[in-house]
Amino acid sequence: MRIAMIGTGYVGLVSGTCFSEFGIDVVCVDKDAAKIEKLHQNVMPIYEPGLEDLVADNVKAGRLSFTTDLTSAVKDADAVFIAVGTPSRRGDGHADLSYVYAAAEEIADAMTGYTVIVTKSTVPVGTGDEVEAIIKKRRPDAEFDVVSNPEFLREGSAINDFMRPDRVVIGTESDRARHVMKQLYRVLYLIETPIVFTSRRTSELIKYAGNTFLATKITFINEIADLCEKVGADVHDVAKGIGLDGRIGKKFLHPGPGYGGSCFPKDTLALVKTARDYDAPLRIVETVVDVNDKRKKAMAERVVKACGGSVKGKTVGVLGLTFKPNTDDMRDSPSLDIIPALVEAGAIVRAFDPEGMHEAKKMLPAITYCDDAQSTLKDADVLVLITEWNEFRALGTDRLKKLLKAPVVVDLRNVWDPAEMREAGFTYVSIGRP
Ligand code: UDX
Repeated sequence: MRIAMIGTGYVGLVSGTCFSEFGIDVVCVDKDAAKIEKLHQNVMPIYEPGLEDLVADNVKAGRLSFTTDLTSAVKDADAVFIAVGTPSRRGDGHADLSYVYAAAEEIADAMTGYTVIVTKSTVPVGTGDEVEAIIKKRRPDAEFDVVSNPEFLREGSAINDFMRPDRVVIGTESDRARHVMKQLYRVLYLIETPIVFTSRRTSELIKYAGNTFLATKITFINEIADLCEKVGADVHDVAKGIGLDGRIGKKFLHPGPGYGGSCFPKDTLALVKTARDYDAPLRIVETVVDVNDKRKKAMAERVVKACGGSVKGKTVGVLGLTFKPNTDDMRDSPSLDIIPALVEAGAIVRAFDPEGMHEAKKMLPAITYCDDAQSTLKDADVLVLITEWNEFRALGTDRLKKLLKAPVVVDLRNVWDPAEMREAGFTYVSIGRP
């Protein structure tokens, strides 16, 4: 089997590399020549644990290569995956499909023989139909099928999510395409991964429904956390108490400053727009989007309150900037709402993140960046933990006390124990715990 992966962003690079690990010949294509050149030198454009080694192994084995030449990659491929970006369109929140459609046109011009074209990017319902129409128009005689095969990769554990997924979803009504897809995922059949075959439109919707459900679950526990604070209950015990009910499930019930990242904010918004267009509004999801936006903005108030009502002239030491640990991704991170609000309120902000500093410096220029947690916290008036990187968990009360000028900690990920912090004399604010 031979495939071409169009787009070497997060999804394309991880999926292409993992397919090559399955034993398939993969050519990854990108228009960005600098990115491809770096990949030739085994320099990854993103931070993802384990990816660099997996790329190196498969390149060495001759199964994985990188090119800017789409035509040669698509020619003779059994399947061509479209894994280009679908950002939120400025102004209306719809997914911007211009990159997907441009890729479809180029694929149409380059393909030879029967080809399965697979949309891996998260695309609104009906995009597969549009891709099919584009290709048919350019190549009326070509033999091809368009299949939807959404990804469910989490940043930071994307390789494991690809190699050992909970399920694979494949949307096609063509037996010929189904056969090709089965071959590509043969390894997963061997480990008895559930494969859901369905229609293309259903498959497209599954991706959005899955992500919006998870975003809703997080937002639900975040609001329960707020209630816990008011009534003197512990949100972790609530999460455990409800999560052990198999119908609810214990995952994605960890409270925090609000969800961020490259998927949930964009996908919830896009589904809301689609539902409105079809006159079937998703009122729950509309509320989730609104509650989450407001939550991220409200987090700075916790810091102000913990500092006695004002942060003016105070030094705030921020640990963690990315939207979650084990990634360098800053997209829609809560830090992008919290830090500007603190700066606006007159705080002097110092920050450190193990992998996100490069991106953060572009997005949050008005603060001081430090080399490590120690220099960030030295003589600070308050510590604000935004992202729960493991190395921050290891900071104990003694160490924190020695570093900070005042023993004030705002922990937006609940990594420390409230009783221990209180005993050590800290003013400690966390989420949803007495
Ligand atoms: C998500 C989906 O999980 C994945 O299936 C999809 O393909 C892409 O989007 P990702 O964005 O990488 O993956 O991160 P995820 O681990 O899902 O976390 C998303 C956000 O929710 C983060 O900001 C995280 O901090 C937050 N979150 C997650 C919580 O606040 N609480 C939780 O319990 C879980």
